[in-house]
Amino acid sequence: MGTLWLLALVGAAGLAAGLPPNILLIFADDLGYGDLGVYGHPSSTTPNLDQLAAGALRFTDFYVPVSLCTPSRAALLTGRFPVRMGLYPGVLEPSSRGGLPLGEVTMAEMLAAQGYLTGMAGKWHLGVGPDGAFLPPNHGFHRFLGIPYSHDQGPCHNLICFPPSTTCEGSCDQDVVPIPLLNNLTVEAQPPWLPGLEARYVAFARELMADAQRLGRPFFLYYASHHTHYPQFSGQTFVGRSGRGPFGDSLMELDTAVGALMTALGDLGLLGDTLVIFTADNGPETMRMSHGGSSGLLRCGKGTTFEGGVREPALFFWPGHIAPGVTHELASTLDLLPTLAALSKATLPNTTLDGFDLSPVLLGTGPVRPWATPRPAGTRSSGNPCGLQQSPRKSLFFYSPFPDMIRGVFAVRSGKYKAHFFTQGSKHSDTTADPACHSTSPLTAHEPPLLFNLAEDPSENYNLLEKVTDVSPEVMQELKHLQLLKAEFDASVVFSPSQMAQGEDPALQICCLPSCSPKPSCCHCPESKT
Ligand SMILES: *[C@@H]1O[C@H](CO)[C@@H](O)[C@H](O)[C@H]1NC(C)=O
Ligand SMILES: *[C@@H]1O[C@H](CO)[C@@H](O)[C@H](O)[C@H]1NC(C)=O
Repeated sequence: MGTLWLLALVGAAGLAAGLPPNILLIFADDLGYGDLGVYGHPSSTTPNLDQLAAGALRFTDFYVPVSLCTPSRAALLTGRFPVRMGLYPGVLEPSSRGGLPLGEVTMAEMLAAQGYLTGMAGKWHLGVGPDGAFLPPNHGFHRFLGIPYSHDQGPCHNLICFPPSTTCEGSCDQDVVPIPLLNNLTVEAQPPWLPGLEARYVAFARELMADAQRLGRPFFLYYASHHTHYPQFSGQTFVGRSGRGPFGDSLMELDTAVGALMTALGDLGLLGDTLVIFTADNGPETMRMSHGGSSGLLRCGKGTTFEGGVREPALFFWPGHIAPGVTHELASTLDLLPTLAALSKATLPNTTLDGFDLSPVLLGTGPVRPWATPRPAGTRSSGNPCGLQQSPRKSLFFYSPFPDMIRGVFAVRSGKYKAHFFTQGSKHSDTTADPACHSTSPLTAHEPPLLFNLAEDPSENYNLLEKVTDVSPEVMQELKHLQLLKAEFDASVVFSPSQMAQGEDPALQICCLPSCSPKPSCCHCPESKT
C-alpha cells in the first residue's frame, strides 16, 4: 500500500500571503480510544492514520463532553455543552421536530464570515426539521453531501450490505424512510449505495479544496465519515481485507479516505497550509461485540461517562507549524471552535463558550511544564518539541446522555483526578467484562464520589475513597476541589428546553417522492451500483 503523501511536503509553498490556514476536520463515528494502531490496537490496518500521527501532535487525554452522537456533534461544532442548546436526552430521530437551534453559531458559520469556503461531507445528526431547516446548508456550510443522521436509522434491508450475500445484522430502525443521501437540500439517492459512499465523499472533498484554491479562499471541510459505526459497510476493495473483520474493513476504508484527502492536499500543494484534525464522536459501541470497536485500556464505552465513553484519539497535523509529538495535556472537542477562531483570527460567537484556545499547545507558544528539560544554551527554539506546553484547560465536565438540571454533571476531571458523582450503565456498553458498564447498571449517586487518579489508574479500577479512613490529605484536597468545581459549574449552567421534547412528526421525514404512497416505504429512489 503506497502511502507516500508526505513526500508532497517537499517544496510545498508557504501560506499564501495573509490567508488563514485551511482546516480539514475529520470526525470518525463510534471509534474508540483503543481502535487505532498508534493508540495500541494490535490488529488494525491504518497506515495513513499511522503516518498522520507520526507527523502530528497526538493527544492522550482528549475528550468529548457527552458519549453519544447528537450531543457530541453539537459540542464539536459550537464549542458549547449540548444542554445549553437543548440537545438532550438521547439523539435526534428522522422525524424529530427539533434540531440544533438556528441561533447557535457553528464553526462553519464563524469561518464563513472570515472568508472561508465551507463544506461538509458525511453524517450530520443535528436535525432535519421542516424544509430541512436544521440541515448543514442552514448552519453555515456552503456545500453539503451526506446523510442527515446515522446510517442505521433506516430499514435494515436498505443498508445494502456488501457483498450482497452478507446478512444485515442488528437492529436498524424499521418504520421510517430509507436513509437519504442529500446534495445540499436535495435528495440524491434514497438509499444511497453504501459501498460507493466514502469514495463519493472524497471526490466532494477534492472538489471543495480545488475550488477554494482557485477562488483564492481558505477552506473549512468537516469530513464526518460514517465509519466505524455499526452496522459496518465498506467499499468492495476493503471487504475481508483488514484482518479485523467488518469493523476493521470499515476502519481501513476510513484510513484510505484519510490517505486520499492527504494526497489531494499534497497534489494541490496545500499540505503546509492546512491544519488537519482527526478525532471521533464517542467511544465504542461494545453491545455490538467485535463489530463495536475498542476503548483499549479504558473502562466502558459509548453512552457512559467512564473514560472509554468520553476519551478519544486526537491528532493535530500542520507541518511547519505544529511539531510532531505526544501530549498528555487535557483537551476537548469543545476547544476546537475557540482554537480555530484564534488561528483564523475569526470573531468568537457572542455567547457562553465552554472551550479554550489550544493554539499555544499546538504551536508551542505557551508556557511549558515546570519539569520540562531546559533547552541547552545556545540552541534555537523550534516550537513545541514534544508536547510540553501547558493546556489552558484545567478541568472538564461530563454529562450523561440523559441529563437533568438537578443532578447536573455526572463526572468531573481536574488535572489527573476524576470524580464520578453519578454513574449509569448504557446498552451501548453492554457485553464488556465489567457489569458497571451495562444497561443493567442503574443510575447511582455516589456520596462521596468515586475518585480515580487517571495518571496512575487510567482504567478507573481503584477508587481512592474506597476506604475513607485511609485517605491522604492531598486526595482529600482534590476531592474538595472537584466537589467545588461541580457545585459551581452546575449552578452556572442554564439548560435550554429539550429539542427532543418537541417530539416527532412523521411528515418531516425526508422523501424523494414527496407525494408517493404508502409512506414511509414508497420513499425509495435507489441508485445504480457504480
Ligand atoms: C451545493 O450548493 C453550492 C452553492 O450553490 C454548490 O456550489 C454545490 O455544488 C452544491 N452541492 C454540493 C454537493 O456541494
Ligand atoms: C452580545 O450579546 C449580549 C446579550 O445578548 C448583548 O447585550 C451585546 O450587545 C452583544 N455584544 C455584541 C458585541 O454583539
